[in-house]
Amino acid sequence: MSALVLDGKTVSSAVKEEVAKEVKALSDKGTNSCLAVVIVGDDPASRVYVNNKKKACEVCGIKSLEYALSSSTTNEELLSLVKELNENPEVNGILVQLPLPKHLDEKLVIESIDPKKDVDAFHASNVGKIMIGEYDFLPCTPAGVMEIMKYYNIETEGKDCVVIGRSNIVGKPMAMLLLHANGTVTVTHSKTKNLKEICRKADILVAAIGKANFVTADMVKEGAVVLDVGINRLDNGKLCGDVDYINVSEVASAITPVPGGVGPMTIAMLMKNTLKATKLQNNC
Ligand code: GUN
Repeated sequence: MSALVLDGKTVSSAVKEEVAKEVKALSDKGTNSCLAVVIVGDDPASRVYVNNKKKACEVCGIKSLEYALSSSTTNEELLSLVKELNENPEVNGILVQLPLPKHLDEKLVIESIDPKKDVDAFHASNVGKIMIGEYDFLPCTPAGVMEIMKYYNIETEGKDCVVIGRSNIVGKPMAMLLLHANGTVTVTHSKTKNLKEICRKADILVAAIGKANFVTADMVKEGAVVLDVGINRLDNGKLCGDVDYINVSEVASAITPVPGGVGPMTIAMLMKNTLKATKLQNNC
């Protein structure tokens, strides 16, 4: 039997519609919402993501400011821009698109963002807050995965959840959110032994490794829910996820497609975080 397709476009539209309503209500009372997006260099994938973020801002009634810096930008120049944005009361959220060119210090830049404007939730102080379950912002991609499951009434409590990948951006916070939602969580990575056997135990399997078609049907338990965070470009130019979608669809009970699954959710959750930042900064 073919799996239920978890449609990120539908869920993200619903989230953005809610955000737009709240943004409008705030602006009617005189409070505007604004996201500053910083992009350094000319990575084509980053350019697409940034354009999509700006489009989503438009849909939600959030003002977006783009700062496109050349690939020769220095750490000092980038840090100085972040400082300026931290101090600008018109700016509620700051997003520095990653990855940065190799000569720039990503960690230093992330830590320089005011945690109250850190709508990616990458700053150590926001990461720490997530760990203790008392957060203002959730990182957009894991939050998007949780939101899809909420929309489709997928129960996480007591479920065996396996996350493939341990990045700071997705794998680690994903594990934490599933844990907060009372899942029993296993985090796997490139050094994990018996990966297939571990994945086969999962009721909920989240793939975030960045390898095209890495998760094959023999790694998935019959009836599992499969969430594919991967966005990989094949040699033929087509996008594909970390999951062998066609074959895994025959085994899973529900699955996110790529594109149109977790990707649109990430951006919708960014809008939600920008709204939250605006409310926090204006005490509303
Ligand atoms: N690059 C890929 N995903 C993201 C993200 O969620 N935020 C930022 N800032 N950069 C990214």
